[in-house]
Amino acid sequence: MRLDGKIAMVTGAAKGIGAATARRLGEAGARVALLDVDGPGVEKVAREVQETGSEALALRTDVTVAADVQAAVEAIAARWDRLDVLVNNAGGFPRMRGTEDITDAEWDEILRFNVTSVFLCCRAVIPVMRRQGGGRIVNLSSVVARSGAVLTALHYAAAKAAVLGMTRHLARELAGDGIAVNAVAPGTTATERVLAARPPEESRRLAAAIPVGRFGEPAEIAEAVVFLASDAAGFITGATLDVNGGQTMV
Ligand SMILES: NC(=O)c1ccc[n+]([C@@H]2O[C@H](COP(=O)([O-])OP(=O)(O)OC[C@H]3O[C@@H](n4cnc5c(N)ncnc54)[C@H](O)[C@@H]3O)[C@@H](O)[C@H]2O)c1
Repeated sequence: MRLDGKIAMVTGAAKGIGAATARRLGEAGARVALLDVDGPGVEKVAREVQETGSEALALRTDVTVAADVQAAVEAIAARWDRLDVLVNNAGGFPRMRGTEDITDAEWDEILRFNVTSVFLCCRAVIPVMRRQGGGRIVNLSSVVARSGAVLTALHYAAAKAAVLGMTRHLARELAGDGIAVNAVAPGTTATERVLAARPPEESRRLAAAIPVGRFGEPAEIAEAVVFLASDAAGFITGATLDVNGGQTMV
């Protein structure tokens, strides 16, 4: 899979699946803009992308803030004058919560981080993609939105289901503009955040219950994202690609 000459924007690129995706896009020949609130973290990953021989642009950006997102898209246009791929990866939730323990503020925060961020990035990028005659958007959903196979938290389950609804809506809305919109729904993946969210013994039990007997690796999720971002997926839009070691089969 090659993306030579393509310009890609990846949100939440300082860590985990976002960092792995930025590195993999670089290896595939794309020039990569990396957005994250963690400025030093995203600069470090940008240097790793440059080591693959590709160009990279680190942009300290809060994807929940419209002005920040707009500034990032303008910086990308100023540098490369186009934008072919948007990966809406930023998202997640910091701690397990029973529904009765979710505060109003936490509900709003998780919806803003996982759902509003996708809206803000799409809204900023769509005019650029329309002008140039096409593009590809890949949204990160989750196994929890597919079957509830793993216990997470209500706000996160709601948010990741919303991401699938947005993916299908946008696929239909933008197909005539040559813009494909798809989702990847990872199973439980061994990122720092996820390993920290549960006691090790519980993680071991959860991994053992997955048919392949382990969590996914960020690089394995990145492969699926890069496939959907590439011309190899030319006839695919509105789809959800499950990458979960059999954790759900839908
Ligand atoms: N890891 C999993 O098991 C798993 C499973 C299913 C879906 N996902 C989804 O995959 C995506 C990546 O998950 P991960 O585990 O790699 O996450 P992670 O926590 O490892 O990384 C998230 C990144 O987002 C950044 N970030 C946080 N707030 C931000 C903001 N406001 N603006 C910009 N960046 C911000 C963080 O600094 C971090 O670098 C998420 O959307 C998550 O919901 C993950």
